[in-house]
Amino acid sequence: MDAFIAGMPKCELHLHIEGTLEPELKMMLAERNRVRMPYRTVEEARNAYRFDSLTSFLVGYYESMNVLLTEPDFYDLATAYLTKAASQNVRYVEIFFDPQAHTSRGVPFDLVIRGLRRAILDAERLLGIRAQLIMCFLRDFSAGFAMATLMESLPYREWIVGVGLDSDERDNPPAKFAKVFARAREEGYLITAHCDIDQPNTHEHIRQCLEVIGVDRIDHGSNAIEDEALTAEIARRGLGFTVCPVSNGFVTSDMKAAEIRRMLDLGLKVTINSDDPAYFLAYVSENLQAVQEKLGLSRDELLQFQRNAFEIAWLPRATKDAYLAELDAYATSN
Ligand code: ADE
Ligand code: ZN
Repeated sequence: MDAFIAGMPKCELHLHIEGTLEPELKMMLAERNRVRMPYRTVEEARNAYRFDSLTSFLVGYYESMNVLLTEPDFYDLATAYLTKAASQNVRYVEIFFDPQAHTSRGVPFDLVIRGLRRAILDAERLLGIRAQLIMCFLRDFSAGFAMATLMESLPYREWIVGVGLDSDERDNPPAKFAKVFARAREEGYLITAHCDIDQPNTHEHIRQCLEVIGVDRIDHGSNAIEDEALTAEIARRGLGFTVCPVSNGFVTSDMKAAEIRRMLDLGLKVTINSDDPAYFLAYVSENLQAVQEKLGLSRDELLQFQRNAFEIAWLPRATKDAYLAELDAYATSN
């Protein structure tokens, strides 16, 4: 099964580029940019994080970003991820980036997006992996800052396929950003939002995503299936979920495999993704392996995750069909 998973053409839809910063690259960038680190070796850097919740994870996640300062830093970060993803036969990826985590430290938006964009173009040419960017708003900052960031993104509109909402969900409901998302929609951005696992008021937050924001997709979101009306509405709209099992296991007490099983059985468009692989120590193949081992999934069920992913990807119909045909060819010959 591991070989089957490894070879399967894959689509990743929940991946924070800042969450791919491996300790090796972090130490290299710290040296290049003369940023002082509280540790001297890669091993020390790796062992520095201890987290058991979304909030405690986010502390180390933002702190690590201090080494990202120049356009080549963002290029190197994205190139390292895209190289790794291509080695796992990820054919297409939608990459989240958190501009406010950088602009709030004085790093210009232009430099961040140019580095990421250049890496995407080179990876497509050299590795055959395709990627698009999703710009996330940090929900623990103000709606005004999110709106200013939306405005700042408009000169780069062609380089960004959609917008998302991430960071600390506690006391930061989606409705706080209603105006920002309405404006993003007017500008032609597609919309997704994190509905993190087991958060306070999770069902109300998911409801707001549907009724107030009008999302095109839900990131995480497996708590939705505890509520019949939410489940029915999501199914009616055909919305997909980007679930991240290994991440779930770090920020809560389990990877929510039973919920994933149930989502598959309900015919919901559930997909398997890696979230922040450098922190959760699992890229997309390892996430698929973890779920497979826990649930004893069949090849058809593993293929279904990828079918769902290409189906809900923010791509033109003909492009999705080409990837789905690739997946069908893999299924027939393996
Ligand atoms: N930022 C990076 N990873 C995240 C996650 N899983 N939830 C919320 N914000 C994030
Ligand atoms: Zn995430």
